[in-house]
This record gives sequence, structure tokens and C-alpha cells, in this order.
Amino acid sequence: MGYGNNKLSIIGLGYVGLPLAVEFAKNGMNIVGIDIDEVKIEKINNNESYIFDLSSEELAAVIAQGRLTVTTELSAVKDTDSIIICVPTPVTVHKTPDVSYIQNVVDGIAPYLRKGHLVILRSTTYPGATREFIVPKMEAAGIKIGTDGHVAFAPERVDPGSEKFTFNNTPIVLGGITKKCTEEASNLMSMITNDVVKVSSPEVAEMAKLLENIFRSVNIALINEMAMLCDRIGGIDIWEVVRAASTKPFGFMKFNPGPGIGGHCIQIDPYYLSWKAKEYNFYSDFIEQAAKTNENMPHYVADMTIQALSMSATPLPDCKVLIIGVAYKPDIDDLRNSPGIHVWEALLEKGVKNIEYHDPFVPTFKEGSLKGESIELNGDMLKEFECVIIITDHTSIDWQMVFDNSKFIVDTRNASSKIKEGISNYYSLGGGQLGKNGTFGK
Ligand SMILES: NC(=O)c1ccc[n+]([C@@H]2O[C@H](COP(=O)([O-])OP(=O)(O)OC[C@H]3O[C@@H](n4cnc5c(N)ncnc54)[C@H](O)[C@@H]3O)[C@@H](O)[C@H]2O)c1
Repeated sequence: MGYGNNKLSIIGLGYVGLPLAVEFAKNGMNIVGIDIDEVKIEKINNNESYIFDLSSEELAAVIAQGRLTVTTELSAVKDTDSIIICVPTPVTVHKTPDVSYIQNVVDGIAPYLRKGHLVILRSTTYPGATREFIVPKMEAAGIKIGTDGHVAFAPERVDPGSEKFTFNNTPIVLGGITKKCTEEASNLMSMITNDVVKVSSPEVAEMAKLLENIFRSVNIALINEMAMLCDRIGGIDIWEVVRAASTKPFGFMKFNPGPGIGGHCIQIDPYYLSWKAKEYNFYSDFIEQAAKTNENMPHYVADMTIQALSMSATPLPDCKVLIIGVAYKPDIDDLRNSPGIHVWEALLEKGVKNIEYHDPFVPTFKEGSLKGESIELNGDMLKEFECVIIITDHTSIDWQMVFDNSKFIVDTRNASSKIKEGISNYYSLGGGQLGKNGTFGK
């Protein structure tokens, strides 16, 4: 089937769905974008992108061409040939998968499913979810899967903020319920990529996506553990260790320590697999241990900060702390599961009350009971704080100025490596300055 004239609905116009919709539209397809969030729909209709990686100009261009229309109505799927689902898959407070968004969508589209429909799930989920959620709804609509309707899983791999990896050079892994499903889904996804990696089932594709993110989680946890060990031993700098190990041209992949994992994926996805594993009396200790180590990092950074503040003459409740970076990674504005927020909360619990932040990408924020407004970063202002914590190393920040003017710095990103020698007023995460054999500050 040629997909050029195919009409496609994309459900969930967030970080994944909106750029995907625009990419398909740019490649000549007619897209109906569906989202329950009326504010997002209004913004799109006003040619306004709310996704950092997608410019409003790009969005406006496909709208002007009539290639993208948007609605809050799931019933719009009935006029389209294919459906891609990109809704959130978070975890509950007890770290179990919250698949209610997928469930709501499939319930909502069920009355409109018909023969000829191709449904692709793109949200990250546990192995078996595509088959469990979508196939029964298709069959209930009288659709024989692989003959007169098709179902597949094709996970998203976007690297937010990356200019190097785009739709054009990131292969799409894809597995259908039947071979024909895989073929149909592959034909569609080939509209936006030259590289579809077909696998034998949705479960293989679902597991592959989880492996990719768990691989990162486990390796980050390993390096975080080694960073804390360097601090305990003293005198060994993990950043120098990583630099040295990275010269091995084979069998080693570089990961850096950090204040915790943010974003929608790496911190959450491992729990989808460990939850599923328990159904088979299988306890994925390794995966959960990695999550535990990574989730402890904001508390570790808060403890480093308390240790730093204990050297100050100012009593703890009066100390002022500045957090640089609340976005979860450099040069983006995404706050989801931000380590900066977690460090902030941990410090409040430990009695540090005066906390402010600077983030060039996040002018204001509100997360739970916390809210703030980014303050300006200059020499005079920096001198007011007993401690500055570097959580996110946005490239636009003048680190020399920060180090020159701060009373004390807790550096979780090795920002100190970007400045001239001779600075002594800082702890580096994993820098080996906390240990009994090391010295406080260099
Ligand atoms: N953000 C990433 O970098 C990334 C990368 C890879 C995979 N993923 C996965 O992609 C999926 C989507 O993530 P995201 O970051 O785009 O989430 P998001 O929160 O940015 O966007 C999801 C959108 O779905 C909408 N939505 C929720 N329920 C709906 C419903 N019933 N009908 C219509 N729309 C509905 C929300 O309003 C929201 O706009 C998740 O499974 C995530 O794990 C995300």
C-alpha cells in the first residue's frame, strides 16, 4: 500500500507526538493530531510550538499547507487510515506501571475502529502491552488482525535537545502482531526514516526499548556508585578515572556520574520491566538496585551541600543556597523528574529553607508544592549565597564567573573542568574531596 495519500491520526501531542506529527506532515502525509489538552490544541492552532526541539515556524509551515489539523476528539480517528498512540506511560507513587493513558485511548477509539485500520503503539511499555490493550479492541470491532486490520509496536527513541540524532538518522525498531502487520507498519514508518529494523513481534520491540533505557540506567548507577566510593576513599577523582578508562578503544562505554536521572524515560521505564518480571516470580534485583542508586543521588548531593554549609559561619536555617539548572539535562527546558527539584526537596527536609534557582531555559516553574522564578546570574548576586549547587551544565553559563564569585560550590557536573586552575572553593561529585584521605576543597 502506498502511504503518500494515507491519512494518519497521532494521539498524544507531547514531546513525542507533536514532532512526529510534523515530521510525517513534512513528508507529505495528512495528519490529524489528537490531544485532550485544550491548551495544547489552542497553541497549535495559533502556530505556537510548546516543544523545545520543534520551532513554531516548522509547525506553522505544515499547518499552512493543510497537512496538520488538530482536535480534542478521539472520534477523529474514524476518518484516518492509521493511528499512532503517543500518550504518557508513567509509574504510580508505588512504582508500578500506570497504563491508564493507553487504556483511556483504546477505550476512546474502540467505537471508531474499522477494517483497514493500522494501529501503532509508540508509548514505552512492558512486553505484551500492545497485544493486551489493542488487539482485543480490534477483534471486538470484527477486525481480523493481519488480514483486515494491523497492529504493531514501534517505540520512540528521541534524544531531546540533540541536533546530531534526528528522525533521519535514528533507526525505528518495529514489531507487528503478524508479518503483514509488521509490513504495513514498516511501510508507514518508512515515510519518515530510511531505516526500519523489523523484529518478530511487538514483545521483542517492547523489550528492546526497555533494554535500551535500562542499559543506561544500570551504567549510570554503576558510575554513580563509583563516584560515591571515590568520595569515601578520598583523593581519587571519578572524572579523571572516567577520562582515563575512556581511552580504551574497545569494550568500554563512557558514562558520567550525576545528581540523579530526570526525564520521562530512564528513571521510569525500568519499573515497567521489574513489575512485569514479578508476574513470572522473577525478581530483577539488578534493575531495581540501579534505580535505587540513581534515586538516592539527589539525597547524596543534598548531604554534600549540608557538609559544605557546615563550614560556613552562618547557621543552617539562615544559609542561602542557589541551584543552577532545574531542567533535567543541558540546553533543554524539560523539568520532568528533575534532579534539581529532588535536591531542592531534600534540602528543605534537611532544614535549608532559603533556596533559589537560576536556569536560562526555565524562567518560572511549579512542581507540586515547589515553585520559583529564575534569578539573574551575576557576580554580586552569587556572593549572597553560602553555597551554589551545579545541577545542570547548560552551555550558555559563564562557569568562570560562577566559580570566581561563589563562596562555595557543589559541582555535580564537573563544571570545574571548564575553568582555569587554582579554584579551591568547591566539592566535585565523585571528586574525592570528601574522603578522609583527601582534602576539603582543592
Ligand atoms: N519524551 C521523551 O523523550 C520520550 C522518549 C522516548 C519515549 N517516550 C515515551 O513516549 C510516550 C509519550 O511521552 P511524551 O514525552 O510525549 O509525553 P507527554 O506528556 O509530553 O505527551 C503526552 C500527551 O498525551 C496527551 N494525552 C494524554 N491522555 C490522552 C488521551 N486520552 N487522549 C489524547 N491525548 C492524551 C497529553 O495531554 C500529552 O499532551 C511515553 O510512553 C514515553 O515514555 C518519551
